[in-house]
Amino acid sequence: MGRLRGAAWSAATLLLLLPLLCDPRAAAWRPGAPFHCNVSLDVAPEQRWVQVMRHFDPAFLRSALAQVIDAAVPKWVHAVIRPIAEEIELYIPQPFAGEIRGLCQALGVNVGDGVLLNMAYESTAYCTSIVAQDNNGNIYHGRNLDYPFGDVLRKVTIDVDFLKNGKVLYQGTTFFGYIGLWTGQSPYKFTISGDERDNGKWWENAIAAFLNRDTPVSWLVRTVLAEAESFQVAARMLAEIPIIADVYYIIGGARPKEGMVITRSRRRAVDIWPLDPASGGWYRVETNYDHWKSPPPFDDRRTPAIRAMNATGQKNINLESLYNILSMYPVLNNRTIYTTVMSAGAPDKYMTQIRFLA
Ligand SMILES: *[C@@H]1O[C@H](CO)[C@@H](O)[C@H](O)[C@H]1NC(C)=O
Ligand SMILES: *[C@@H]1O[C@H](CO)[C@@H](O)[C@H](O)[C@H]1NC(C)=O
Ligand SMILES: *[C@@H]1O[C@H](CO)[C@@H](O)[C@H](O)[C@H]1NC(C)=O
Repeated sequence: MGRLRGAAWSAATLLLLLPLLCDPRAAAWRPGAPFHCNVSLDVAPEQRWVQVMRHFDPAFLRSALAQVIDAAVPKWVHAVIRPIAEEIELYIPQPFAGEIRGLCQALGVNVGDGVLLNMAYESTAYCTSIVAQDNNGNIYHGRNLDYPFGDVLRKVTIDVDFLKNGKVLYQGTTFFGYIGLWTGQSPYKFTISGDERDNGKWWENAIAAFLNRDTPVSWLVRTVLAEAESFQVAARMLAEIPIIADVYYIIGGARPKEGMVITRSRRRAVDIWPLDPASGGWYRVETNYDHWKSPPPFDDRRTPAIRAMNATGQKNINLESLYNILSMYPVLNNRTIYTTVMSAGAPDKYMTQIRFLA
């Protein structure tokens, strides 16, 4: 796969970036490529991640898991989920149940902890997603994933090619052990990213919905990547299938005008915000607030991103300029774990960089 990564990309990015370094803080950021692996969907769910695990130190993974669970999962949730863990197949469909079980067995950790890790959805996650169309009708999609636990998660960030019959069925970026996807691509069809939508006491709602067999937000992304035959089908699935928490789904296609932000409640789409290039809507920026409301003054990453999109202009938008916009403070910030830029029509250009303070 002719992915742009490593030294060539970094050097090119740096050159492009230099004139844009309007904030000295941006100079402190160093990019890095994540571990890239294949996961074969032809292998049984229990087995398919075992090969990838060899790249990591199991003791480090166990301590990372304990740290995240300890900080992110309330004790009462632990008490509810752990006893039912042995029957996860009753609540969790395949391949998710098998993958979690296989990972936990290989690592020697409790399956309930594996389930909880995979449900974690942090109310302090801040993300930015942008979908845009250039003057020639090409669609570009980029995202920053901002999350706590960066010290740990930067070390386990992976780009995964999910293979079927030896060919890439879909791709995504995640943290090793977290089997859902917040970022992914179905080649020549569509790209998806998810941004957290805060709705207060989400654990209560999520556990109830989970026991009702609704799907975690990031698992729906994987299901859609695996199953949807087109941008339109993908958009409909993302808008309609019940999920366990509110979220923003951002989707880009491979053809002109194929791009939108879907604002989700657990049951349904609250709002659909498509690209509208004919009327000046050549891009959509979504952070973590409903687009029809103002972002709070203490966390306005939207306005700087919009200003940068305007300054770049439709004729200059491409994966490189989008990456540069996602590299400007405060769109890029000290919680940003990785940046991905992608374009369904040019799937080989899928590119993730881990972001961290030098
Ligand atoms: C992943 O699979 C592809 C075939 O689709 C192969 O060419 C490539 O070498 C594999 N990469 C890794 C890292 O195993
Ligand atoms: C961006 O451009 C649009 C269209 O010209 C304009 O309405 C908007 O105010 C601009 N926003 C910023 C933050 O520059
Ligand atoms: C990130 O920066 C903010 C201030 O800009 C600071 O309060 C916070 O502690 C920093 N967080 C990390 C993880 O460095």
